[in-house]
Amino acid sequence: MRTLLLAAVGLLVCAVLTLKVTMGAPSTDSAKLSELAEARRTIRQLQQQLQAQHRRLAQPPDAGPSSAAASALVSPAKQRWEATPTNLKLNAILAERANARGEAMLALANDVMMCSNRKSCWWSGGNIFETFLKSLQRVKVTNVVVITLDDATHQFCTSFGSVGCLRLDMPVPKAQQGSRGANMISTLKYDLLRQALLMGFAILVVDLDLLFLKDPFEHLYRDADVEASTDGFSAAWAGGQIQSIHDANMGWGAGGLYVQHFTLNVGCAFFRPTEKAIELLRRVAYSLSQASGWDQQVFNSEVFMLSHGEYNGSKVGVRVMHYLEWVNSKVFFYSSRAHFFPGAPPKTAAELPVMVHMNYHPDKHKRMLCVWERYCEGKHSACDALPPATK
Ligand SMILES: *[C@@H]1O[C@H](CO)[C@@H](O)[C@H](O)[C@H]1NC(C)=O
Repeated sequence: MRTLLLAAVGLLVCAVLTLKVTMGAPSTDSAKLSELAEARRTIRQLQQQLQAQHRRLAQPPDAGPSSAAASALVSPAKQRWEATPTNLKLNAILAERANARGEAMLALANDVMMCSNRKSCWWSGGNIFETFLKSLQRVKVTNVVVITLDDATHQFCTSFGSVGCLRLDMPVPKAQQGSRGANMISTLKYDLLRQALLMGFAILVVDLDLLFLKDPFEHLYRDADVEASTDGFSAAWAGGQIQSIHDANMGWGAGGLYVQHFTLNVGCAFFRPTEKAIELLRRVAYSLSQASGWDQQVFNSEVFMLSHGEYNGSKVGVRVMHYLEWVNSKVFFYSSRAHFFPGAPPKTAAELPVMVHMNYHPDKHKRMLCVWERYCEGKHSACDALPPATK
């Protein structure tokens, strides 16, 4: 690389000298002009070659503890991560925190999640971030990086002590300015996630309004590009089902089958550093940078819409996390209430959820606290009095 660069610099100097000499030599005006043009072209070409060399040299090496494993997943023709100051910091903290498999949990946090100003949080008070961190500390999960988006949150994160905290100021894409706080944040995470995957890490990206009751990394299957929790609230809605329609007008051909399933929840989703997962994240980030949208909706269209005509779908491989282990709050409090209530000590280890996500209820923190008391402090009936639904 160095030698090539020096050679290119040498050629550039020669070209400049040639230009000077040419300009000094007596000849007709038109010959002079064409020589001049020729020399300029040469200089331009050499400059372009030099710039290309610079770009190549500026690219970071394959990094991360899992780079050997990752190179098996990402093709040699892969794009590399960009060596911006932000990405260099992200790479350093992921390398420091990731487990032996090169896996880390990644979350984004701002002071809204701490509800330090009661006006800015839409649940009825309580520090969601703190309860989230307590749940991770209890199950001794430390391969965690929290991106903190303001100083107060960073201060809280570092003083808590058990996870990695990275203070970043992230510009909001123009298309997302003015949309609701939580949505703005979640749109930022896709580009960051993609960079982390390009670095060779596998990332479990999580929201903060959930509690981990077991080490999530002991409950992954790792056989898909994306392994994600579900917004579904039954086995069929979570994993998918074949349904039929019957159109009597069609007589003999009245029946038809279709497939339906619920959306994945990106509030708890595991991405392996595969080409398809990286491409999926690129598409979602691009789409969100172009037009205001709910990231959950954009993400699910990119995951599930079939290729057709001009539309080239992402073709990612998907696994849905078990809805009774990675539990959304509608399943826990409402639709599978009989499975979880009344509160009692779990009879088998399998009965204890990996996590409970308060995505379906507005009184998030109250419900997080009852799950904490029930499973972590042995007050088995702590959630029993909370209503199943909002109305
Ligand atoms: C669709 O995209 C993939 C890469 O994501 C590519 O390999 C494939 O050739 C594309 N198909 C078409 C028809 O362009």
